[in-house]
Amino acid sequence: MAENNNKKYVELIWHQKYDKIDLGSKMPIEKPNLVLQKVETINEPRIKADKTAWVFPEDEWPKDYPKDWKNMLIWGDNKLVMSSLIKQGWAGKINLIYIDPPFFTGSDFTIRTKLGDEQIEKEPSIIEERAYNDTWSGGIASYLKYMYERLVLMRDLLAENGSIYVHLDWHVGHYVKVMMDEIFGYENFRNEIVWCYAQGGRPKDYFPNKHDVIFLYSKSANPNFNKDMIKIPYDLYSEKSSSSFTKVDENGRRYKEIYGSDKKSKYKYYMDEGKIPFDWWTDIPKMTGRTAASLESEYLFFDTQKPEALLKRIILASSNPGDIVADFFCGSGTTLAVAEKLGRRWIGSDLSKFAIQVTRKRLLDIYNSKDLQVNE
Ligand SMILES: C[S@@+](CC[C@H](N)C(=O)[O-])C[C@H]1O[C@@H](n2cnc3c(N)ncnc32)[C@H](O)[C@@H]1O
Repeated sequence: MAENNNKKYVELIWHQKYDKIDLGSKMPIEKPNLVLQKVETINEPRIKADKTAWVFPEDEWPKDYPKDWKNMLIWGDNKLVMSSLIKQGWAGKINLIYIDPPFFTGSDFTIRTKLGDEQIEKEPSIIEERAYNDTWSGGIASYLKYMYERLVLMRDLLAENGSIYVHLDWHVGHYVKVMMDEIFGYENFRNEIVWCYAQGGRPKDYFPNKHDVIFLYSKSANPNFNKDMIKIPYDLYSEKSSSSFTKVDENGRRYKEIYGSDKKSKYKYYMDEGKIPFDWWTDIPKMTGRTAASLESEYLFFDTQKPEALLKRIILASSNPGDIVADFFCGSGTTLAVAEKLGRRWIGSDLSKFAIQVTRKRLLDIYNSKDLQVNE
C-alpha cells in the first residue's frame, strides 16, 4: 500500500495494484520500446474523396506546422504503443487525448460493422482474445489495472496545457474517476460531461440508462480552452434564458444589458453570440439505432462508433489548429477524422486490425487529407 501520513489521503485499491508498479514514479516497470514498423505511407491525392465536403482552409494551417509531418495510425496494444512513443520522444507533446475505451460490458471486443451492403460481426482475433482475457478475467480489478497502466502513460504524453477526455458509463466510470484523481490530481479534474445521447421512449421500469459520462482532466492548472469556438444558440436548452433578451439594437439584434463585476459598468450581451454549453449535452444524438438514418453520411455501422459532432465540440474546445490530438482506442477513427477535418495533426491506435482498416479507409475518404503513415 502507498505510504502516506496525510490524514486526508484517499486512494482506490484493487487486487495486485502495486504488482509491477514502481511506487516512486507510479510508472509500470516494464516500459517496452518497440520500433514502430512503417507499413505504408500514403501521400497521393485522394481523388475519390468527396470534394464537396468541408475542408480546412489551407491558409489557416499554422506557419510552424512541420512540412514533413505525417499523421500516424498504429496497429497494436496501446500500452506498448504509448510506452514506445514516450521512449521515442513524444512525452509532453500531445495537446489533447480523447479515449473511448471498452466499458467493461463483456462484449467489448466483438466488432459489428458493415462491409459493402453486408452487415458483419467480427469475433475477436487471437491477439484481441488474449487482451480480452487479461482485461476481464479478474473482474473489475483486472480492468482497473489495465486502465491504470494506460492512463499513467497518457499523463506522460500530455503537453503542459493539454487535456484528456475519458468516455465511460455506469459500468466502471465511478472507479475510473477516483483513479484519475490519483493520476492527474483531484485539482486537475475540470468536469464530468454527461452526454445524454437519447431522449424519448417510455420507460417500463427503473430509470433507463440514457447517458454516458466523459471525464475531463487537464495536465496542469492552465489548460487550453477555446470557449468562443463551441458556443451554441441560446434557445437550445431553455426558452426562459432566450426570452430575457428583451432589447433590440438598431441592426435588429436582440440583447440584454448586464452589470459587470464592479456592479456599475454595464455591457451588452447579444443573443446571437450564443453561449458555452453546460456540462450536460442533450443536442448530440447517438449514432446507432434509429438515429442512424439521419446521420447516414458518417455512419460506418461500427458498433461503438461515436458521432463526429461530439468529437467536434471536444476538439474545438481543447486544441488549436496544428495541435496534436490522439485517440489510443480509435475504433472506427471518429476522433482522427474530426481532427483531420479541423486541421489538427493526429495519432491513433487500435488493437484490432479490422478497426485500423476501417479507420484507414475513413481517413482516405476525407478530401485533401494530409499524409498518413500506418505503423504496427
Ligand atoms: C469503444 S471502441 C472505440 C470507438 C470509437 N470511439 C469510435 O467512434 O469508433 C474501443 C476500441 O478500443 C480498442 N481497444 C481495446 N483495448 C485496446 C488496447 N489495449 N489497445 C488498443 N486498442 C484497444 C478496441 O479494439 C475498440 O476498437
